[in-house]
Amino acid sequence: MKIGIGNDHTSVDLKREIAAYLESMGHEVVNYGTDERESCDYPVYGKKVACAVRDKVVDQGILICGTGVGISLAANKVKGIRAVVCSEPYSAKLSKEHNDTNILAFGSRVVGTELAKMIVGAWLGAEFEGGRHKRRVDMITAIEAERE
Ligand code: RB5
Repeated sequence: MKIGIGNDHTSVDLKREIAAYLESMGHEVVNYGTDERESCDYPVYGKKVACAVRDKVVDQGILICGTGVGISLAANKVKGIRAVVCSEPYSAKLSKEHNDTNILAFGSRVVGTELAKMIVGAWLGAEFEGGRHKRRVDMITAIEAERE
């Protein structure tokens, strides 16, 4: 799978560890930055990865900022994006199975490397179940269309 990854200045080290973990699982990783440690603006990177997912340049996205909150909020403004911020594997797994999330976010100030890997593993290992969940995801998409 091709996975886009992006982060702000708080999360360069965790991003690199997660990218290496993804590659060790056989995934192709596309790095959308930042690789700088000077303070920067997380919406820039949230948008880059979200647009890459929307445009099918990558299959799924992973975003990291201090809490995972701001960067996921930014990503969720892009049409077709369902980004979830998780600090444990259960919600990550269910967010894929029930909500068909296409971007996973977490916070480098919230989770350590090993927990982050567990969250990523749970999310990538899960599949959307469809059925009644598809009806609900379609309802979310319909709300998005109302914005236009
Ligand atoms: C940066 O200080 C911090 O605000 C950012 O990484 C993130 O946590 C925002 O949601």
